[in-house]
Amino acid sequence: MDKQSSPIFQAMQQYSADGALAFHTPGHKQGLGAYSLLKDLITTEGLRCEVSLMEELDDLHTPQTCIKEAQSLAAELWHSDEVFFMINGTTSAVQAMIMSSLEPNDLVLVPRNAHRCVMSGLILSGARPVYLSPAFDSEFEITLNLTVESVEEAIEQYPQAKALIIVSPNYYGVAADLTKIADLLHEHGMLLLVDEAHGAHLHFSNRLPVSAIDAGADMSAQSTHKLLGSLTQTSMLMVKSKLIDVERVRRTVSLLQSTSPNYLLLASLDIARLQMQQNGTELIERAINLSQNLRQAIQNIDGLKTFDSVNGFNLDLTKVSVNVNELGLTGAEAEKILRHKYKIQCELSDLNNLLFLVTYADTDTEIDKLISALKKLTSHKTSNYIKKINNSSFLIHNSSLKLTPREAFYAKTSTVKLDDSINEICAEEVTFYPPGVPILYPGEVITEEIVNYIKTNKKINSHLIGAADTSLNTIKIIRN
Ligand SMILES: Cc1ncc(COP(=O)(O)O)c(C=O)c1O
Repeated sequence: MDKQSSPIFQAMQQYSADGALAFHTPGHKQGLGAYSLLKDLITTEGLRCEVSLMEELDDLHTPQTCIKEAQSLAAELWHSDEVFFMINGTTSAVQAMIMSSLEPNDLVLVPRNAHRCVMSGLILSGARPVYLSPAFDSEFEITLNLTVESVEEAIEQYPQAKALIIVSPNYYGVAADLTKIADLLHEHGMLLLVDEAHGAHLHFSNRLPVSAIDAGADMSAQSTHKLLGSLTQTSMLMVKSKLIDVERVRRTVSLLQSTSPNYLLLASLDIARLQMQQNGTELIERAINLSQNLRQAIQNIDGLKTFDSVNGFNLDLTKVSVNVNELGLTGAEAEKILRHKYKIQCELSDLNNLLFLVTYADTDTEIDKLISALKKLTSHKTSNYIKKINNSSFLIHNSSLKLTPREAFYAKTSTVKLDDSINEICAEEVTFYPPGVPILYPGEVITEEIVNYIKTNKKINSHLIGAADTSLNTIKIIRN
């Protein structure tokens, strides 16, 4: 295998150069019929290569040639045994990870702040989650990650659990100690499944938290598109484990993927691998250096706060969180000012913070512009800000799961007033940002304490996601 090649891209070019007259899909016929806007968008060359299902192009579902080679090259680079290219994002990679390793009613440990794709994987698999509470930082009001101790306790309490699904690093870059956690789980015959959507770059620097596969995880789902150079929607599912049946993973991946995969997406995954193969370490080290320069500058701006370490957790330094509360602004207000006045778009904002991603694509120029805008942000200081109370200790509450996510998904539901919902089983997810940790998942019992918490958050206009009624005057419950 030639590590400096890009097998999928080359196969696409070969087919295009052969000049075969197209009597096949896609309907635009290699750009022949493409509308001018599409040509402008994808380019004539791109459209000429945008074909699928030709013998030269291999088959995503039973890869033998260029896709097999590209996946093997990725496996070698990321030190994995197997890599599956995913064209429906990390969502389908996480779904495949769960479906291929768990069976209906298998008990699985899941942090309460898992991404919604974990919930969809639980619905598809029928596995029974036990929700664990991640640690929380009350200064920045952000969720951290699962501590080794909390995993240890959960293993003791639920020795019959088959696996832990963990999100590491999380959106803010806070990583769990995966090496210790992997050892602990394996000692008890349990699997470590990692939603590593935010960690495709970790492998390339030892200044970053160790990547899941390097830490001993059985499987990892990485969004290559989030922090490396492939097109949006492309991810990799990695397997390195004696406990996993790779053939079952292959079947599951096939079940969840299109039979007409887009080769621009597939080629972009392979090209992102090539880019990292050639310059990965240099590019990621540069991103870390830039993010550290950014942090230093932020620490010198009056009214802004940031951090480069989190008590007891490893931090992905390329994620830069900035607390804006001393300016009297919420994160959301600061985001709007930066976007519309200074043409800077952050990755996300919450009640208190802005999150900036520094990637391999950035240089001093972009970081200098960001620093300059952040300095100007301080001129928007206001005295109107009212500190909103967020009773984060509530998150430690013990979930009382009555139905699995799958059972709740297929159950008949009805809608009742929030006050009438006490002791009913919730049929939807209710999450307030911050802290972004769901307070109700489908299948959990709604308690009086939960209803009171919801009311407090409604009063302070916390941002709500998940619920069908965005005012939460009503809530969906399971009908008997
Ligand atoms: C932690 C986490 N997992 C999974 C996903 C889903 O990834 P994708 O958007 O590639 O489907 C996301 C997306 O933001 C995420 O933040």
